[in-house]
Amino acid sequence: MKTVQPLLINNNSMRSLLVCCVSIAISTMSMAAFAQEGKNLFRQCASCHVLEADGPARIGPHLAELGGRKAASVAGYRYSDALLDHSRQGLVWTEETLDQFLASPAAFVPGTKMGFAGVSDAARRSVLVIWLLDATADANSTESTAIRDDVKAVLSQEADADYGEYLAGECLTCHKAEGSAGGVPSIVGLPAERFVRAILDYRNGTRTNQVMGLMAGNLADAEIAALALYFSTL
Ligand code: HEC
Ligand code: HEC
Repeated sequence: MKTVQPLLINNNSMRSLLVCCVSIAISTMSMAAFAQEGKNLFRQCASCHVLEADGPARIGPHLAELGGRKAASVAGYRYSDALLDHSRQGLVWTEETLDQFLASPAAFVPGTKMGFAGVSDAARRSVLVIWLLDATADANSTESTAIRDDVKAVLSQEADADYGEYLAGECLTCHKAEGSAGGVPSIVGLPAERFVRAILDYRNGTRTNQVMGLMAGNLADAEIAALALYFSTL
């Protein structure tokens, strides 16, 4: 087994790698554009769902306070046996489970009565899920699931998974594709929101780790977004 030697990382090669690629200009979206895109994506859901607990009844249950909500738990709504079963087995709506469910409701919950094929595009789905968690978060709750503004700004970048794969080469010298190794945590499959939050915290110094501080300090927002997309979809 190869041992990890964090101090041998060649920071100059890292920098030139990044400098070369910043010129692959990636268009950026403002926060307002992110909110607009989330809203647009939700249009395909709005015929069946409202966001507020006291909104008018539709074919599907309301989605208020969705983050952390137990599946099939809106009182008085008649769920399918399939979704009720999943709920009994512990299904809770989080960024990960919503991403899986919305990719293909019928595949994730066979027998669900949600008549919707799914959102196949991973980047679109990610924007929709993050927007949805944010839009339905209870502002008064102490355990707010609202996404931090700086994290949202990165997630709203137009991300390119191929570019992320290219940048990830440097990360994989330490972060092994098969899981954690030698004190380096696994980042494969890490949800995009958590991934971005971690990198930003290394970049702003909230999280202190010498190597990751250097790594994060060299990453522009568009690069973080591309890496987050790539690792979250592995
Ligand atoms: C044609 C109507 C329809 C559309 C369109 C639709 N849904 Fe649903 N949705 C439902 C129904 C019906 C259920 C209840 C499923 C069950 O009981 O199996 C549901 C359930 C859900 C749940 C689980 C709620 C809970 O209380 O556990 C979520 C989350 C959800 N939908 C989100 C969405 C999102 C996001 C979209 C758009 C991308 C969407 N739905 C599109 C009808 C729809
Ligand atoms: C020289 C080794 C090394 C390299 C190269 C490296 N990392 Fe890390 N990374 C670490 C270590 C060690 C930690 C744990 C640090 C800590 O304890 O906070 C970590 C932590 C992380 C975390 C937080 C994981 C979590 O679950 O909280 C993320 C995300 C991450 N790295 C992403 C990256 C990305 C993206 C790259 C490439 C741009 C990269 N790393 C390059 C060693 C490395």
